[in-house]
Amino acid sequence: MSAEKQNYLKLVETLNLHSYQYYVLDNPIISDHQYDELYQSLLNLEVDNPEWVTEDSPSQRVGDKPLTEFKSITHAVAMYSLNNAFSDADLVDFLNRIEKDTAKQRLLALSAEPKMDGLAINIRYENGIFVQATTRGDGKVGEDVTENIKTIRSVPLRLQGKAYPRVLEVRGEVFMSKKSFDKLNSVKIQNNEKPFANPRNAAAGTLRQLDSKIVSQRNLSLYLYGWGEISDDWQQPNQYSEVMACFETWGLPLNPDSKIVIGVDGILDYYQILSEKRSQLAYEIDGIVYKLNNLALQKTLGFTAKFPRWAIARKFPAEEVWTDLLAIDVQVGRTGAITPVARLKPVLVGGVIVSNATLHNLDEIQRKDVRIGDKVIVRRAGDVIPEVVEPILNLRPDNTKLFVMPTHCPECDSEIIKEQGKAVYRCIGGLFCPAQRKRALQHFVSRKALDIVGLGNKLIDQLVDENLVNHPDDFFKLTVEQLTKLERMADKSANKIITSIDNSKETTFARFIYSLGIPEVGEVTAANLAQYFKELEKLKNAAIEQLIDVDDVGEIVAENVSHFFQQTHNLEVINSLQAQGVCWQMPENRVIEPDSIFTNKVLVITGTLASMSRSEAQKILEGLGAKVTGSVSSKTDFLIAGEKAGSKKTKAEQLAITILEEDDWLNMMENKSHG
Ligand code: IVH
Repeated sequence: MSAEKQNYLKLVETLNLHSYQYYVLDNPIISDHQYDELYQSLLNLEVDNPEWVTEDSPSQRVGDKPLTEFKSITHAVAMYSLNNAFSDADLVDFLNRIEKDTAKQRLLALSAEPKMDGLAINIRYENGIFVQATTRGDGKVGEDVTENIKTIRSVPLRLQGKAYPRVLEVRGEVFMSKKSFDKLNSVKIQNNEKPFANPRNAAAGTLRQLDSKIVSQRNLSLYLYGWGEISDDWQQPNQYSEVMACFETWGLPLNPDSKIVIGVDGILDYYQILSEKRSQLAYEIDGIVYKLNNLALQKTLGFTAKFPRWAIARKFPAEEVWTDLLAIDVQVGRTGAITPVARLKPVLVGGVIVSNATLHNLDEIQRKDVRIGDKVIVRRAGDVIPEVVEPILNLRPDNTKLFVMPTHCPECDSEIIKEQGKAVYRCIGGLFCPAQRKRALQHFVSRKALDIVGLGNKLIDQLVDENLVNHPDDFFKLTVEQLTKLERMADKSANKIITSIDNSKETTFARFIYSLGIPEVGEVTAANLAQYFKELEKLKNAAIEQLIDVDDVGEIVAENVSHFFQQTHNLEVINSLQAQGVCWQMPENRVIEPDSIFTNKVLVITGTLASMSRSEAQKILEGLGAKVTGSVSSKTDFLIAGEKAGSKKTKAEQLAITILEEDDWLNMMENKSHG
């Protein structure tokens, strides 16, 4: 063999090793750029020497031509499904069926695994080379999706090491991560295509693509959890976990969250732990799979017609269910924005009864073609607000009605108008509208504003309805006597509330600005305004040009701020607040530590951070000389993304801005922030 060809083979091996480091171990040892360079030199060699191309060359992951159809393939070993358990009692029954003796039952070892919400796949290796991948189909016959599965970069085209059997079929789940799903859908929406309803549908739709080029751009993932045919030149170990350990040494991708647990306690603990972790996982799961670890025992128990007797799926409460859409009402927000709300036939979603769900805005209703009387899919994941995902079109009754946006506010009868170029409709009633007044007051007392503990939404509604509070300054005029006259209000609670109102008077300038609820002035902008102007008088009299000079303030925000302080009634409320004793100290200058990698960089913080609030994070970054802004643009250098990061993260992805997870950011601060 020529030295050049040897070099080529070495290059294939090196690139495959780097893919393995990146996609299986999640631990890259070279940069993406270095990888791309190596890959390019491989492609050059392959163009010059097409006869060299190996079956496991990374260039072989994407097929040349789209297929015309998928071939049907009969599985060498049938693919079973799983029996479901819906309660702890079902799990106890499962253990009882396996072992009557409770003392022995306590010692049973089981593999506990997240139940990925995707599609089961069989992958066949012959002599260590990937030869075929098939879907589960009906369990006996599936479809040949070899070309599509090859594009998944965590799946090795050649097994590592030498100790693998001549024929090895591995089985697992193909799925789409939440991140890839969001990315795919935002592109679909931009192109006016119908987005996928959930990651499972997206994975299924992608796997059905005849063109593997499209599949390769969609970023499917795969974890293995079983096997089909294995040739008998291999000595099978005694435990399921040992087989998985072999898979690992062959470079196959396994779920890092799987774990061996012991007995009923172990099973129930794992359920608890994973339920809590569910919303933080990178992919959707619909339950947990438990499998007996002892393979001899598995063999004795065998299968029913459909399921193995040695495994069970404990299902989580569904996060997506369907129900009847009874009516669509509208809700009025703090700035008058009108949100259509679905009134639903009550239904259990994600473990709670839901009877209202958001429909976001009129555009969304029209895009999804949701009609009153439809059966709709409702989704409630983690603690996000329940939303209507889509109508079930083939169950649509004849007498559905289209939603019509009201022309007048249901709360104050003022006109409702649509802002030009925007999806939102607004009630123009301003603070005359009781709904807007209530929301504005809720905002004023909220945690990031004056933080008045004990003043819940219900109480605020009561106070407004009783005409005790109309504007924020009225809170400070309340007396214990007035409160105790309200329904269900004891002396003790009334006293507590008055004390906490009193305690809120000493605040910060930034909180005060934020509490005013000026449209589009969030906590970051409020902090920047406070830092820039230092004094309320200066802010009140600021000209537009001056306002635009503040970090993160553009023309629209500047207009909003200026307009707000020109309104006599706003100035009256502010004066009255100060007269009631609301006060703050002049903000101190930010002390800048030089030489940080964040110095002079523009950052956006989004989502919920685990270790601190966003405003604390902002302070730290500003202390390092960074500029923290509220919206992502091409000028943004980094986006720090906490839990439940949403549209800002999607935008950053589209603009290819470096996204730092909270941990990445904290590590960078610890390791490299100082010169
Ligand atoms: S084991 C004979 N393990 O759930 C055992 N299945 O509802 C076959 N699934 O068809 C399956 N995660 O598509 C197993 N860790 C896991 C799984 C898992 C997801 C899927 C799989 C299966 C379905 C049954």
